[in-house]
Amino acid sequence: MSADKLLNSLASRTMLAPMAGYTDFAFRSICRNYGVGLTVTEMVSAKALTMDSKLSRQMLHRADNDAPCMCQIFGHEPQVMAECVHIDEVAAYEGIDINMGCPVKKIVSNMDGSALLEHPKLASQCITAVKLAIKDKPLSVKFRLGVTDGANAADFARMCRDSGADFITVHFRTRKQMYSGNADFTLLPQIAAVGLPVFANGDVSDRRQYLSLLDNGAFGVAVGRGALGRPYVFAQLADMPYSMDLYSTVLRQGQLLSAVFGERVVANEMKKHVCAYLKGKRNSKPTVVAVNLAQSWQEIMQYVLQFTQDNPQYAWENK
Ligand SMILES: Cc1cc2nc3c(=O)[nH]c(=O)nc-3n(C[C@H](O)[C@H](O)[C@H](O)COP(=O)(O)O)c2cc1C
Repeated sequence: MSADKLLNSLASRTMLAPMAGYTDFAFRSICRNYGVGLTVTEMVSAKALTMDSKLSRQMLHRADNDAPCMCQIFGHEPQVMAECVHIDEVAAYEGIDINMGCPVKKIVSNMDGSALLEHPKLASQCITAVKLAIKDKPLSVKFRLGVTDGANAADFARMCRDSGADFITVHFRTRKQMYSGNADFTLLPQIAAVGLPVFANGDVSDRRQYLSLLDNGAFGVAVGRGALGRPYVFAQLADMPYSMDLYSTVLRQGQLLSAVFGERVVANEMKKHVCAYLKGKRNSKPTVVAVNLAQSWQEIMQYVLQFTQDNPQYAWENK
């Protein structure tokens, strides 16, 4: 499917931003129930994939209802990145997204992620090589405003366009900011003027922000942390009715994971998500503590059940 076709077919102009350790196939599947337009896998190493890493391949497991979804790869060697897109698990996705925004030291010191912001020529070679390898399949690039400021952000977007990217996701923070401070969307019109569809990203969690970003030139918005524990945020952004039964949602997410991973992995993954589902809810502290100490997935579900019974006002979220 071409990029135009993919973007025009989206259920809404929203994307679940990739988050390592959170946006696995189970959480993406849950977000699908609330009308998210596009999803992206957690970042996977192109190099590890070409070295047949079982863990990386496992990270690319998919749920039946999760399409269209972009597979996010990171790396800095054009040939390796071009090679990895032919691996079955990668090729199964509707498109490829290249991570040029990750600020984590280990990634940057290896020339990956946001290191490429400082090396636009190499970034361009990576994009071109992947585009050549995937042909008509959509290719996107996710990057930050810059290392310390946004002076080169529009140039970087232009480079993405000229190298073969079909659309971009921009996190409107600098690498230096990491995740602190507010996202600053001042440069959005300038970046959008480059002519690539832009998914604007950073702190988006309500419809007012969503409409304002679309007004300012964004094609869509990408939501990361705002979706954790609140997968219905996508319905809220699109002004659609929704309802979420907390217990059944958590149960479903864990069941999906259990089909692929062992008990320990499921419990550890779900601890993070259950804490996100409980965040900000009154009386949830003892449950959060108990969940974090739980030994099994079943035990976690008992605590969630007890919480919804004791706090029926939180058993459902709807509009
Ligand atoms: C825990 C966590 C993991 C992340 N992992 C990735 C990743 O794998 N790839 C990526 O491009 N961005 C990653 N990000 C960045 C998010 O996609 C997003 O750009 C950032 O969180 C800002 O959006 P938000 O304010 O809506 O969360 C991650 C962010 C967080 C908090």
